[in-house]
Amino acid sequence: MTVYLNGSFMPIEQAQVPVLDRGFIFGDGVYEVIPVYSRRPFRLDGHLSRLQNSLDGIRLPNPYAKEHWADLIAELIERNASEDQYLYLHITRGVAQRDHPFPCPPVQPTVFLMSSPLNTPPAQLLQSGVSAITATDNRWLRCDIKAISLLPNLLLRQLAVDADCSETILFREDLYLTEGTASNIFVVRNGCLLTPPKSHLMLPGVTYDVLLELAVAHGVSVEMRQISKDELLAADELFLTSSTRELQPIIRVDGQAIGNGRPGAVFARMNELYQSFKR
Ligand code: PDD
Repeated sequence: MTVYLNGSFMPIEQAQVPVLDRGFIFGDGVYEVIPVYSRRPFRLDGHLSRLQNSLDGIRLPNPYAKEHWADLIAELIERNASEDQYLYLHITRGVAQRDHPFPCPPVQPTVFLMSSPLNTPPAQLLQSGVSAITATDNRWLRCDIKAISLLPNLLLRQLAVDADCSETILFREDLYLTEGTASNIFVVRNGCLLTPPKSHLMLPGVTYDVLLELAVAHGVSVEMRQISKDELLAADELFLTSSTRELQPIIRVDGQAIGNGRPGAVFARMNELYQSFKR
């Protein structure tokens, strides 16, 4: 597997970062995950704009212009074998003596890119659906920044794994839906798609944007508003979205069936639209 680190492409075994990197010491950095279908990055502009917002959010100047990112990404795709890939972009504030304030003068940021094969959800999973649990969203108030410091997300996700489930759906103050630990959440009620509006409390998903655009273009009604846990549990259908998991139907939450306990018609329609749009 070929990766990119600080200006060079190399086999992953050769890529090394000093232990004083602020990403390693503090989790001081941001990342992006970009799906690639048939060797073409999907929604590259959306991902690069979100990367810019994340960098702005942590006050780290973007090391590269958009065109340079696009060139690096094209070369990384070229140098890796799979037709469908997912790209991981990771930028930290660089290597400096351990001290909380930003290094002054600033140091070179660390830039790392890697590609992995993208395995989209198997047909069987789309037919059977997945289960989820709920938990209190105890993360910070800047979840719109795609920060590499993911410890709260990991702890919350592990609760789902421990319960034999595939996602933890998060609620602020136990009241309002924010998102999953690594996904956005859509509720279906009376044929209408409901999802929380973008805010500092959730990651503005690129797949979320695509879904909303597809819904509007194909006459599926959409409402962006706060969603309570009771409303989520009483949904006709429920599904999650992410760049690597695409759309996945959630048929059970906290042991309780959602709707009739099977993936529904609105999910099937949105997934069909997404599958034809992404190619
Ligand atoms: N995560 N919310 C969170 C907290 C996420 O980590 C992700 C994606 C999403 C969905 O965003 P998008 O549709 O742009 O992928 C929502 C990526 C896939 C990851 O961390 O691996």
